[in-house]
Amino acid sequence: MSTIKIHDKEFTPYITDQEIQEKIQLLAQQLKKDYGNKKPLFLSILNGSFLFTADLFKYLDFEAEVCFVKLASYKGVSSTGNVITAIGLDTNLNDRHVIILEDIIDTGKTLHHFLPQLQSQQLASLKIAVLLNKKEALAYPIKVDYDCFEIPNKFVVGYGLDYDGLGRNSKDIYQLKED
Ligand code: IMP
Ligand code: MG
Repeated sequence: MSTIKIHDKEFTPYITDQEIQEKIQLLAQQLKKDYGNKKPLFLSILNGSFLFTADLFKYLDFEAEVCFVKLASYKGVSSTGNVITAIGLDTNLNDRHVIILEDIIDTGKTLHHFLPQLQSQQLASLKIAVLLNKKEALAYPIKVDYDCFEIPNKFVVGYGLDYDGLGRNSKDIYQLKED
């Protein structure tokens, strides 16, 4: 793998496709232990989580459902103040074991603003699973229950994650190159 350029910035190889797939399979095994007979509902946060959700879902060999919402708070390489619900929740979550799927948790702002939308329903349980956990960047009281990778507070692209719309269609994950 070599350096790639997206818009004006250079990115260096960081996590390979193979490493990603291995970690997602381990997560699927753990979820089977925790939810194997609970028929959980995975609530995937678009856009960034679409590949993570698709791959994880293929590795789940027990009864499970999936639904999607679309939230956005990012512009360029940093979080903006506002979280927008672009496509809302249309699924009944009452009595359901819900697992939120996020590509990456950064400041935690997106989920912090979204979670109150679930409060009007009586969930059986709620957990959060993320592919990438930027632990040092967390600034809101969000508890991540499952993560595949803990990563430092540096901007990454690939495997669903974008830089201003581009870079999502890379199997591997790249990290912003230091100047
Ligand atoms: P948070 O609200 O600050 O936790 O940011 C969450 C959302 O911002 C994620 O779901 C991503 O869509 C986006 N995001 C955060 N960090 C990165 C990154 O390093 N690269 C690309 N997108 C990111
Ligand atoms: Mg996202």
